[in-house]
Amino acid sequence: MPHFLTLAGLSARTLTELLDASAAYKRARPHGAAPWLAGKHVALVMEKASTRTRVGFEVAVHELGGHATVITGSGSQLARGEPVEDTARVLGRFCHGIVFRTFGDDRLQTMATHAGVPVINALPDREHPCQILADLLTVREHLGTVDVRYAWIGAGNNVAVSWLHAAAAFGLTLTLACPDGYHPDPDVVADARAAGASIEIVADPVAAARGADVLRTDVWASMGQEEEARARAQAFAGYLVDDGLFLHASGRAIALHCLPAHRGEEIAASVLDGPRGAAIWDQAENRMHTHKAILELAFTGGARGPA
Ligand code: CP
Ligand code: NVA
Repeated sequence: MPHFLTLAGLSARTLTELLDASAAYKRARPHGAAPWLAGKHVALVMEKASTRTRVGFEVAVHELGGHATVITGSGSQLARGEPVEDTARVLGRFCHGIVFRTFGDDRLQTMATHAGVPVINALPDREHPCQILADLLTVREHLGTVDVRYAWIGAGNNVAVSWLHAAAAFGLTLTLACPDGYHPDPDVVADARAAGASIEIVADPVAAARGADVLRTDVWASMGQEEEARARAQAFAGYLVDDGLFLHASGRAIALHCLPAHRGEEIAASVLDGPRGAAIWDQAENRMHTHKAILELAFTGGARGPA
């Protein structure tokens, strides 16, 4: 079953195919692509809040000729304790694919094991592979190549883990500035280094930003960590991506953020709403184009782009 659950272990070739297909889908809009999802139904199961992932997949499925059904956590029997495996079995009989945003990685794996149809990872607590494809496409559009110098400023969270997977695939140079206690999973870091990526973890955001072409950040408290927000705000004081931090980056540096953002916490309003942050809005748009390529990979085993 060609699920799309992680970037771990994917080759640079596969990721490049996905990026090429995404760019082709983007060029094909608004005239559209062959409706190869016609007659197919995709369930979007969102146990956590979502704007970009949910709407990006809804529009992508629609534009490919298919039909998307959205189930939110609170609006389904999952919230009342129906086991994921039972939900998976039933949705797999109705639908041809499932996009799943959930909490524990075990819930995602259980959905994939029992659905009998392709399952796409839409952000559990551990990874966010769909997001990173949009990030990479945006970097390629703005800087011409994904082979640039990256700085991650903030928590070693789900998005950072998927960035480490991408760094492993492409052999990228990525410096992460994370406070003590908020480093990414050391096994993921070790795997990325073993695969040839150049990964450094530092405490000082300025050290990470020095010479970087991309300053990438994310919220300090992810969904499900709301009770830690106050403690995290203290730990992350000084981890603001602002114009001062950009003085240390390369002259062509761009900011990236998966959104939603908190202006004045992890990113300054002057960056998010200014020229350095312009790429962030392309990054958000690119969610939808990359979703089409991901759907094609999961449904057909290859991402070729619009016919
Ligand atoms: N970046 C992202 O995944 O956004 P949503 O939470 O709005 O889907
Ligand atoms: N790290 C964030 C990403 C949201 C798109 C979270 O998990 O809430």
